[in-house]
Amino acid sequence: MSFDRNTLMRAAEEARQNAYAPYSGFAVGAALLSEDGRIFGGCNVENASYSLTCCAERGAVMQAVASGATRFCAVAIVGAPIGEDTDAPCYPCGACLQVLSEFCDPETPVCLTGGDVTLHDLMPNAFNLGR
Ligand code: THU
Repeated sequence: MSFDRNTLMRAAEEARQNAYAPYSGFAVGAALLSEDGRIFGGCNVENASYSLTCCAERGAVMQAVASGATRFCAVAIVGAPIGEDTDAPCYPCGACLQVLSEFCDPETPVCLTGGDVTLHDLMPNAFNLGR
């Protein structure tokens, strides 16, 4: 499935502008391309009770599912300290990989600064209920 990588990366960059990260100072943006062609963005949202922080990727997934999109054909993620450019790849955390695995195929491209990988590259064996 071909897609416009630049558009998806730009959507992740735009979402990153809204990151609420006063505690870590690290701003992340994610964008999901749904199978029906819509793009959903998410940013990290931190909390004074640190463990309640929500990652950008999971924010994007929640927004998409609430809008009726449950299959994604591409993911883009950008992250860097606030005010810095996203020059280095920002890999999704394990929790986000597990959540993305629910709604993506293993071959789904994950676009990162500097190059793309697949979901399988990052999480070859997501948890499943074996049925
Ligand atoms: N963060 C994300 O948004 N996505 C990830 O996959 C890993 C980390 C956020 C959480 C926190 O606000 C900041 O990055 C530093 O950990």
